Amino acid sequence: MPLMERQDAPTRIAGLGDPPSQDSCSLVLRIKELEEQHVAFRNSLICAFNQLLDLKDISTGLHSTRLAEWAIRVARKLNIPEEHMYQVEVAALLHDIGKIGVPDSILKKQGPLTAEERALINRHPEYSWSILRLFPGLEDASLYALHHHENVGGTGYPAGLQGDDIPIVSRIVSVIDAYDAMVSNRCYRKGLPHTEAIRRLLESAGTQFDTEVVRTFIPIAEQEATEVFAAAGTSTSAAL
Ligand SMILES: [Fe+2]
Repeated sequence: MPLMERQDAPTRIAGLGDPPSQDSCSLVLRIKELEEQHVAFRNSLICAFNQLLDLKDISTGLHSTRLAEWAIRVARKLNIPEEHMYQVEVAALLHDIGKIGVPDSILKKQGPLTAEERALINRHPEYSWSILRLFPGLEDASLYALHHHENVGGTGYPAGLQGDDIPIVSRIVSVIDAYDAMVSNRCYRKGLPHTEAIRRLLESAGTQFDTEVVRTFIPIAEQEATEVFAAAGTSTSAAL
């Protein structure tokens, strides 16, 4: 019936103000259950991707977990809203997922890279974005992954963004990832001492790294280095 003819339409909307029926209660419960299943499924996929990175030797579970913890601690200190921490965690865990699209012969090459090989490696943030954006609810994390190799001075990739144009979470991931890469042992080289890694972060603050993020991260790194050193009874780089 057209709306104009509905003169007998009740002024009171049926259902409003009534106590919830059993049907509506069970519908709410069902929606809640489906939302929980959706979150659990998404979390399982994130863990599976993390395992994939582990299998490809791009990062280890321990490293990924540590990066996620550091990213969240820095994000909280920078007053990023608490409801955004899930995106921060995913970005820290999976920002390099796109390296799966780079051949091992290039990723693990120990000699100098050719210009073509370097160009291919530099596409990994775009690959990460193209994977993560397919997950409903991870749109923000996919953008953070896309920009995790931008430099505040504008010399990074893929977009050459500068300063605050780079998402703050990407700037956080950039700093903690660089520190982690510097202090971690690799099969072909020993990790740098914590103090040298901090010196290099400070040296590149304002050109490569966000100065505020570096300043915020240093006490966290100091504490981590001291605790890891104490727990391992060895040098920081050996422990990491
Ligand atoms: Fe990366």
